[in-house]
Amino acid sequence: MIFFAVSILTLAALLAAFPTNTRNNAASIPLTRRLNVPSGQTLPEIDKARAQAFKSTAAQRAQKDSSITPVPVTNTAVLYTAEVLIGEPPQTFDLIVDIGSSSTWIGANTSNPYTPTNTSTATSTILCVQFIEYGSGLFIGLEYNDTVTIGGLSIPNQTIGDAQWALGFEAGVDGILGLGLLDAYEVGIAFAPPNSTSDPNGELTFGGVDSSKFNGDLTYTNITTTYPAMDYVGFNQSVTFGNQTLLSNTAGIVDTGTTLVELASDAFATYQNLTGAVLDSTTGLLTISSAQLDNLPSLFFIIENATFELTSNAQLWPRALNSAIGGKNDSIYLIVSDLGTPSGEGLDFVNGYAFLERFYAVYDTGNSRVGFATTPFTFSTSN
Ligand SMILES: *[C@@H]1O[C@H](CO)[C@@H](O)[C@H](O)[C@H]1NC(C)=O
Ligand SMILES: *[C@@H]1O[C@H](CO)[C@@H](O)[C@H](O)[C@H]1NC(C)=O
Ligand SMILES: *[C@@H]1O[C@H](CO)[C@@H](O)[C@H](O)[C@H]1NC(C)=O
Ligand SMILES: *[C@@H]1O[C@H](CO)[C@@H](O)[C@H](O)[C@H]1NC(C)=O
Ligand SMILES: *[C@@H]1O[C@H](CO)[C@@H](O)[C@H](O)[C@H]1NC(C)=O
Ligand SMILES: *[C@@H]1O[C@H](CO)[C@@H](O)[C@H](O)[C@H]1NC(C)=O
Ligand SMILES: *[C@@H]1O[C@H](CO)[C@@H](O)[C@H](O)[C@H]1NC(C)=O
Ligand SMILES: *[C@@H]1O[C@H](CO)[C@@H](O)[C@H](O)[C@H]1NC(C)=O
Ligand SMILES: *[C@@H]1O[C@H](CO)[C@@H](O)[C@H](O)[C@H]1NC(C)=O
Ligand SMILES: *[C@@H]1O[C@H](CO)[C@@H](O)[C@H](O)[C@H]1NC(C)=O
Ligand SMILES: *[C@@H]1O[C@H](CO)[C@@H](O)[C@H](O)[C@H]1NC(C)=O
Repeated sequence: MIFFAVSILTLAALLAAFPTNTRNNAASIPLTRRLNVPSGQTLPEIDKARAQAFKSTAAQRAQKDSSITPVPVTNTAVLYTAEVLIGEPPQTFDLIVDIGSSSTWIGANTSNPYTPTNTSTATSTILCVQFIEYGSGLFIGLEYNDTVTIGGLSIPNQTIGDAQWALGFEAGVDGILGLGLLDAYEVGIAFAPPNSTSDPNGELTFGGVDSSKFNGDLTYTNITTTYPAMDYVGFNQSVTFGNQTLLSNTAGIVDTGTTLVELASDAFATYQNLTGAVLDSTTGLLTISSAQLDNLPSLFFIIENATFELTSNAQLWPRALNSAIGGKNDSIYLIVSDLGTPSGEGLDFVNGYAFLERFYAVYDTGNSRVGFATTPFTFSTSN
């Protein structure tokens, strides 16, 4: 199959409309969490497939392979969506927020089609038909420029893809809001531990950070120069469990399309060994007894000179959501899972939602760095 790797400018262009010298124009929008585990698949399987896709996509890119495919986001158990308005009069779209993607697409829900209005411009007189594989999904679409409104800010003439045909998307989702091509702007990302399968518990801030969502200072670290993590929101960190080092100053990524915290297979095996956890075949997650939970040390993420503590409670899959993933209500499942490949390959961890629900993150593309801070939820015992 032939894929045309036609880039679609997204918020890069959109955010170019923001003044560079002020944070006053930062716009925040709420994020809605949706949980949807496809039958026959487990969370760790889904996350592992995505991590391996990150690696293979980077490899294709390095080989200048023309069939570059965007990283899958739709085939994921937890989605955060944001409401974005497009056109004049504005039409509302619920888009999956994806920090790993660089394209913005709409049109996945055929009952909520995009209707070009007087603010729409087809970007080419020749209809630009694009085939872009999106994980298990597929888009065939046209490119338009139109007015995009996020958080009350309207920016004219922004480039979007309109799917004429889309396959493999979650119900209730209109497409993708890709954050990967942001240019010179910050995106602040706040999540919180969930109490139900559809909490409105996140916030995305464009053009700055929302300091009400975190404590103290942000710790910034440069986007790593280590391949392949460098192709994504990659950075270096060390991971220790209690007093045991699992990963020492190694490259990996933070990702809004990954549910769990993934560690390279050797680090994961050590973690499992130290916890005494067993693998539960139904959920694919590690499970521990309440006695083991009582003795579960914290998992520490050391980024630059700061240490971010994932407490024992933060290492648990929210027990209120056990049944949503096919688990038993009275079981205790852990959110640390196996990346599927050994350490030393330049992408040795993925800090997914289980991490982002405890720490604020800011992706500062202009300065090629990512920042983290603790939040009011870091030490929450809600799980
Ligand atoms: C575009 O259409 C809207 C409503 O249909 C109208 O209010 C607006 O004035 C139009 N804009 C232009 C530039 O024609
Ligand atoms: C569409 O928008 C992009 C980015 O703003 C711009 O570079 C391009 O020239 C526009 N195309 C048309 C046909 O307006
Ligand atoms: C969109 O941007 C392009 C390139 O800057 C410009 O030529 C075009 O007139 C703009 N279109 C609208 C509707 O503003
Ligand atoms: C698709 O969009 C329509 C119109 O907005 C909406 O009523 C419907 O619920 C959406 N479909 C799904 C599966 O969410
Ligand atoms: C979950 O419940 C706790 C305790 O009631 C509350 O503090 C927290 O804000 C809730 N989280 C969300 C995302 O609603
Ligand atoms: C991060 O990158 C900036 C800009 O390239 C550089 O000045 C700085 O020294 C780097 N910091 C570290 C800790 O490497
Ligand atoms: C690490 O912690 C364990 C459990 O608290 C303890 O038994 C062990 O002696 C410690 N090891 C070192 C090297 O401190
Ligand atoms: C980041 O980690 C990689 C190993 O994944 C290592 O080779 C590299 O030197 C580290 N970079 C820094 C700046 O420490
Ligand atoms: C951990 O690994 C050691 C040595 O490989 C083994 O003897 C021990 O039984 C393992 N512990 C657990 C809890 O699996
Ligand atoms: C981290 O600590 C070391 C040693 O204390 C210091 O030299 C270095 O500048 C610190 N780095 C940052 C980014 O604060
Ligand atoms: C398990 O928990 C869910 C959600 O809280 C609840 O709906 C269900 O009835 C519980 N099942 C059992 C067997 O208690």
